[in-house]
Amino acid sequence: MIRPAELIERKRDGGELSAAELTELVLGFARGEVPDYQMAAFLMAVHFRGLSAAETFVLTDAMIASGETIDLSGALGRKAVDKHSTGGVGDKTSLAVGPIVAACGVPFGKMSGRGLGHTGGTLDKLESIPGFRVELTTEEFVAQVRQVGLAIVGQSADLVPADKQLYALRDVTATVDNVSLIAASIMSKKLAAGAEAIVLDVKVGDGAFMKTEVAARELANAMIELGRRAGREVVCLLTDMDQPLGRAVGNALEIREAVETIRGQGPPDFTELVLDGSAQLLALSDLGIGLEEARSRAETVVRDGTALAAYERWIEAQGGDPSVSALEQAPAVRPVVAERAGFVTRLGALDVGLAALSLGAGRRTKADEIDHAVGVVCLRKRGDRVEAGEALAELHARSEESASAALAAVAGAYELAEEAPPPRPVVLDVVR
Ligand code: URA
Repeated sequence: MIRPAELIERKRDGGELSAAELTELVLGFARGEVPDYQMAAFLMAVHFRGLSAAETFVLTDAMIASGETIDLSGALGRKAVDKHSTGGVGDKTSLAVGPIVAACGVPFGKMSGRGLGHTGGTLDKLESIPGFRVELTTEEFVAQVRQVGLAIVGQSADLVPADKQLYALRDVTATVDNVSLIAASIMSKKLAAGAEAIVLDVKVGDGAFMKTEVAARELANAMIELGRRAGREVVCLLTDMDQPLGRAVGNALEIREAVETIRGQGPPDFTELVLDGSAQLLALSDLGIGLEEARSRAETVVRDGTALAAYERWIEAQGGDPSVSALEQAPAVRPVVAERAGFVTRLGALDVGLAALSLGAGRRTKADEIDHAVGVVCLRKRGDRVEAGEALAELHARSEESASAALAAVAGAYELAEEAPPPRPVVLDVVR
């Protein structure tokens, strides 16, 4: 029988825990036998002292063992692929990547989360589609991936319950931003959901968890190592989150933009990330093709409409109306106008995310209701030229008053100068 105080003390002093000790601590906490105050102290000790690679793997494994797991690849008799993003502003990548990958004949089953704070959640975006059901049973989820080739659903409560408990505690004890804890949290959910190959999109920039490329690379390496130890293939894209991804930020607005992108009419940065992410997934799949061929197939299904057909089949399978005209539109649309001419040198992702939050597109606390129609459309992005009096962005608001309140924040997200900034690609690096 472990004594939690002894383990806290050892970690506080920089020591290492055995696999048996750490497993018992995590499972004891998940069963309610280790109280919150001891787990909080342990998390703070980890925050200061870190976990070794071996400890991080044991933590991940114990978190997985706290609940049920899905053998998606086994159930399909195919190699299933999955993706995950560490979260950002305007990140609707899964909504376009899923249909593209499915249209190329690779099963894509994903469990997603909700947004909190300035970052949006895929489930919230999907719920702006009238009728769409995000809650499927595990059996329904697997059956849909088998029959339709694609399902995106809410995380089952039975999958990695320890993560929910640990995350809630980390959230209120200032222990979220530790690389080992983040890596274990993300990878426990991905590994438990059963995909054999996983593409991780690690966002870097002011709108992301990881503010610098160095920190993002550290997280990427920790997650790749966890995948390797679990026998799964993992590729990490390090991607730009210094400005919002694409133009649309806000739930229904992002669905609209994802559909435009699946039709081949999306914004350049988002299109690039979608095609690159899709190609990485296809190259890891059981199609047995290289990256170049994978990219070409992703482009083909966008061009010939197969990806759009896959999107429509998927949305209908989950009870939704795939037509973009069914999406709710905000009653008040107001432009944010450039006061001077110049090139956009900065478009702060965090500023835009917070403005969208203030319009009602996100939630400050878990209990908040989301307004699916509202948000921000960034008509001009970094590097674009604008003339004085032209619109930089559009606010989609519930009322004129809430639009007025968000106006200064979005205007303040933009910086203009005479000279164009150096180009910065959306995919900064690929780590394997
Ligand atoms: N996303 C997660 O799922 N977990 C973390 O700890 C951080 C981001």
